[in-house]
Amino acid sequence: ELPKEGVITCISPSNIALVKYWGKRPVQIPENASISFTLDNCKTTTKLQYKKRKIVEDNFSFELFFEGKPKPDFKPKIQSFFERTYPYLPFLKEYTFTIETSNTFPHSSGIASSASGMSALSYCLMQVEKIINPAISDIELLKKSSFLARLGSGSACRSIEGPITVWGKHPDIKGSNNAYAVPFPFSIHQNFDNYQDTILLIDKGEKQVSSTVGHDLMHGHPFATKRFEQASENITLLKEILQSGDLDAFVKVVESEALTLHAMMMTSLPYFILMKPNTLSVIQKIWEYRNATGSKVCFTLDAGANVHVLYPDSEKNQVLEFITSELVAYCQNGQYICDKIGWGAKKM
Ligand code: PMV
Repeated sequence: ELPKEGVITCISPSNIALVKYWGKRPVQIPENASISFTLDNCKTTTKLQYKKRKIVEDNFSFELFFEGKPKPDFKPKIQSFFERTYPYLPFLKEYTFTIETSNTFPHSSGIASSASGMSALSYCLMQVEKIINPAISDIELLKKSSFLARLGSGSACRSIEGPITVWGKHPDIKGSNNAYAVPFPFSIHQNFDNYQDTILLIDKGEKQVSSTVGHDLMHGHPFATKRFEQASENITLLKEILQSGDLDAFVKVVESEALTLHAMMMTSLPYFILMKPNTLSVIQKIWEYRNATGSKVCFTLDAGANVHVLYPDSEKNQVLEFITSELVAYCQNGQYICDKIGWGAKKM
């Protein structure tokens, strides 16, 4: 029996890929497996109100609010998310929904909110599913939340759980598959406990290339086949590194992945340079600092100019000192966000 009405609030984080997902087939099937740190501070809170409709029509009924204000420009994204997930959530047409979301990070920060936003909404919808179908196990609920999040935005499926998740079928990662992300199924070395990610906001402008366009650029890309092979090899390397705690090897794989992602964009047609001069200055400074101190700090990048500075918890004081004295000068309005590895979606 379907409940008449109710309200559910969930909170879900963003994530940062170590091995990048770039290239997909319909429907949101990745060309290569990817692996990410789930974050802790960059989160979306979503309040989902649902009310049974008097007359069920063949459409979806929902209203959207972002930070308290109606948000019509998000409607098409949610509409297509509902269309895609309806086969798996037949109750979607039975209710009128009010979706209220807010982010812990500034909205024009150049930080993509699709991973946290889509995972939070998916997790909320699975709480409704749980009320309708109480027999669903906790494990099933997590799997299906990740599955739904993937249909909203590929990388969002990696945000449901933490601290490290893998999405995409890979021969070395048992249980890995293209439909949803799974937690890294091996022990994680203590070097990665509380791993830090300080996000430098280099350029807060609108994304030059949407990720949809970006993934498409890998179709017919001259280096696509080699890139997908390399990503797969990097997963194999990271699988060992995360267990052994070899931070020198970690730095190499992670920085190479970031630069390769950008190399793919620079060598596609049309081509894009998403880094800014300050992105390169920051990278240069990180390399100098590492050479001078033996620190294990490294960088990674998303499909934009911002830099994620990754470092072990044991180096927190020194690296933060380095960041504030040397790197913040390259940030737009001096803005940066201190984040770290986290645990995934939660019901409030
Ligand atoms: O989830 P999407 O379609 O927005 O793609 C995200 C792709 C990258 O952030 C660039 C890499 C990744 O694996 O997160």
